[in-house]
Amino acid sequence: MAESMKGLKRTNRCGELSAANIGEQVTVMGWVQKQRNKGGIIFVDLRDRAGILQVIFEEADCGAESFAKAEKLRSEFVVAVAGRVEKRAGAVNENLSTGEIEVRAKEVRILSEAETPPFPIEENSRTKEELRLKYRYLDLRRPDLQRNLILRSNMTAAVHAFLKEEGFLEVETPILNKSTPEGARDYLVPSRIHKGCFYALPQSPQIFKQLLMCSGYDRYFQIARCFRDEDLRADRQPEFTQIDLEMSFVDQEDVMDVTERMVARVCKEAVGLEVALPIKRMTWDEAMNRFGSDKPDTRFGMELKDVSETVAGCGFGVFTSALEAGGSVRGINVKGQAEMPRKKIDALVEFAKGYGVKGLAYLAVLPDGSFKSSFAKFMTEEELKKLVKAMAGEPGDLLLFAADKLKLVWSVLGALRVELAKQLGLLDGNQYNFLWVTEFPQFEWSDEEERYVAMHHPFTMPMEEDLEFLQSDPGRVRAKAYDIVVNGMELGGGSVRIFQSDVQERMFEALGFTKEKAHDQFGFLMDAFTYGVPPHAGLAIGLERFVMQLAKTDNIRDVIAFPKVKDASCLMSEAPGTVDPKQLEELCLGITE
Ligand code: AMO
Ligand code: AMP
Repeated sequence: MAESMKGLKRTNRCGELSAANIGEQVTVMGWVQKQRNKGGIIFVDLRDRAGILQVIFEEADCGAESFAKAEKLRSEFVVAVAGRVEKRAGAVNENLSTGEIEVRAKEVRILSEAETPPFPIEENSRTKEELRLKYRYLDLRRPDLQRNLILRSNMTAAVHAFLKEEGFLEVETPILNKSTPEGARDYLVPSRIHKGCFYALPQSPQIFKQLLMCSGYDRYFQIARCFRDEDLRADRQPEFTQIDLEMSFVDQEDVMDVTERMVARVCKEAVGLEVALPIKRMTWDEAMNRFGSDKPDTRFGMELKDVSETVAGCGFGVFTSALEAGGSVRGINVKGQAEMPRKKIDALVEFAKGYGVKGLAYLAVLPDGSFKSSFAKFMTEEELKKLVKAMAGEPGDLLLFAADKLKLVWSVLGALRVELAKQLGLLDGNQYNFLWVTEFPQFEWSDEEERYVAMHHPFTMPMEEDLEFLQSDPGRVRAKAYDIVVNGMELGGGSVRIFQSDVQERMFEALGFTKEKAHDQFGFLMDAFTYGVPPHAGLAIGLERFVMQLAKTDNIRDVIAFPKVKDASCLMSEAPGTVDPKQLEELCLGITE
């Protein structure tokens, strides 16, 4: 039976009361976390989004009727309590913000009763995530998720405030779209009126924000929902949110400057984190060569070393044949791990194979200076010594090598150093190493499509000094593109855009787009550019990834109210679902096997 709130008005949130309120008459409302009946005295922990408050019931204060109701209370009942804030009679609870006080109840009303929830509503739940996601509305009652969503809201509020101060206008762009060029698969929406035609949900507001620059909006931003039908990973969801911005009459430096000040401001306001500005920079080449990744975690060393020259002509066929095939041999030095058990090394080899290399060669420099190695027998003592020296190896070190195509060597060693850092506890969760990665390659060769594809997107401006190679040697063209990275995660990325139609045409040509295809897909943008277009540039930050960092979680679902799981379904609503045959008929759609 539900009682009415009539005559009661909430005065405070539970978790907001403190010793400063002692003596005040208050009315609080929330969910019963726990009820403890000690005979003549009943304790109730009452919870709302601000925290937990202890309420104490004694018949002498609250009367028989309320006391009887207090006896009935069970977990997750929703109640209103009127009473007086007092200094806690029992021991202070250091774990609660309200730990010094309690509310002595005068009246209680049961606003809603509750079934026993399928799992306890508690911090750091050990309940399987699948079950929690099925009952996400209950899961969202848990303090850790509430803190994450409050953090997320505070972060977007800080973004709004900062960008407004900087003269940005917030403009919404359409969700029902034509395809956007971010390289993922589109989510399609069939049109009822235009039979056989489909809208695509935006992968980003990219084209529209560039059009807004053509229209003179100068500085645009949007907290934009984006949709990409790609395989889910720990930091990817099919629908996610970008802090998206675009600026006119600017170059790369201006975008990087605004972005890093925005990031610093949000970190400061949301969690009190000081980000030292300017954020360090590194070219893509340097990032790949030193860390094997375009989003390097620079909190620890274990950098890659190129030993191709050192091992050229040595007796180990795995190395020499990789080099002869135009590949590379590189290694990492795992300090102090020479005595890593064989089993663990084997596991690392398997880990490496998961990235596509055929193996991983190791050389342990034992404390007495002797070697234990998977390939020492193929090399002379002198060759081995040279190799150890090239790796700055000392007694006690474990050296790991990969030999293959350079791209593969980078990716395997890049992943391996992060994996090892995790295993060896080298990652400091309180350290935030922000980094700009610049001078990305303009193109990436796609074996699948047998052509160059844009690494960022086809509107990205090449670096002036590389423009001349656009046709003759696309592989060496660097782009005015930049990513902002933190602790090994790509937080955001952007670029200076092409605004000259001749450069854009050459770009499409280099990408193997016919004039017709380019016009069909992006004609309205290219037309717009013929009517006066300012130089412009922009960037987008993945909001969820940013929140993940400040919330210190590596699960993107922890910062989204209603996330999807690996197969892109929602366990709560059971989306996607089938539809009424009539709806299909209206859309002229049929389902084939
Ligand atoms: P990009 O494709 O690099 O650039 O995306 C920008 C940022 O969005 C985040 N992100 C994602 N977050 C969660 N789930 C996903 N599936 C997902 N995909 C991307 C990442 C990424 O860095 N229009 C350009 C930006 C620009 O040039 O201005 C763009 O979308 O944090
Ligand atoms: P094999 O001659 O294939 O038995 O390999 C000898 C050693 O070289 C083993 O430790 C393999 O794990 C390692 N190895 C094989 N392929 C590679 C590779 N591409 N890069 C580095 N090490 C490799």
